[in-house]
Amino acid sequence: MSETLKYDMDASERLMAMYLTPDIVTQRGQLIKAIGPKPGERVLDVGTGPGFLAAEIGEAVGPSGHVYGIDVSEALLQVANAKGTHRPWVEFCYGDAVRLPFPDNYFDIVISTQVLEYISDVNNALIELHRVLRPGGHVVLLDTDWDSIVWHSTDKMRMNRILSAWEEHAADPHLPRTLSHKLLQAGFQIESQQVFPMFNPTYGQNTFSNRLIDLIGSFVRNRKGISPAETDAWASELRQIGENSEYFFSLNRYLFIATKL
Ligand SMILES: C[S@@+](CC[C@H](N)C(=O)[O-])C[C@H]1O[C@@H](n2cnc3c(N)ncnc32)[C@H](O)[C@@H]1O
Repeated sequence: MSETLKYDMDASERLMAMYLTPDIVTQRGQLIKAIGPKPGERVLDVGTGPGFLAAEIGEAVGPSGHVYGIDVSEALLQVANAKGTHRPWVEFCYGDAVRLPFPDNYFDIVISTQVLEYISDVNNALIELHRVLRPGGHVVLLDTDWDSIVWHSTDKMRMNRILSAWEEHAADPHLPRTLSHKLLQAGFQIESQQVFPMFNPTYGQNTFSNRLIDLIGSFVRNRKGISPAETDAWASELRQIGENSEYFFSLNRYLFIATKL
């Protein structure tokens, strides 16, 4: 199996640029509304990345609560930690989703957004999330199904080749469609399932899909027989389509909220 996307300094910078786009900032706001963190709650963010969501949840739980953001990427933990210590109740540290460094029944809420699709042992990660959650507590998961992508191109074959190579960036690029069943198997009761679309019907520099062009381009180059020249031609065509006002991009992320009984 080929190697999935690892967040070294380069990939982390591309991820950061994406997370600061208005598309993602808006979606983070919708996500926090769906999570509904309350003052005093203890929250775990598994695979926190640059820690934007954990920091915002820290605002909601306040100093009587606590937020832990864990990740396996030292580069992203550095970014999360650099964001300041003015909220000592928000902590970032190393931790793996399949071996959580916390006791049983410890958290009111456990969140993991855009992470489980990168983990080959999802069932064990779900058992760990269940273990550290208190009875009655909620788990909140967000993942993308990469089959849901609609991206206008005049060269459909090239687009399909690039997206097929990109699927290798995740351990399961179609996780949402089996996640309800996996949650039930891990002992959760499902409370809600929602679709969170990323939609760019027009082209813009500071949009999710424009940042995605860079992230995909750097990953697929020299993979599955795709040359750097083909990658560059694919990226230029999308940007040209954008300049010609013919742009269209849509992708679905899926939110699952479940309870530990
Ligand atoms: C696409 S980023 C999502 C970051 C963040 N959750 C967000 O949505 O803003 C995926 C993150 O999962 C982390 N990750 C991957 N495998 C992990 C594991 N086994 N345990 C903890 N974190 C993991 C990566 O290092 C990366 O920070």
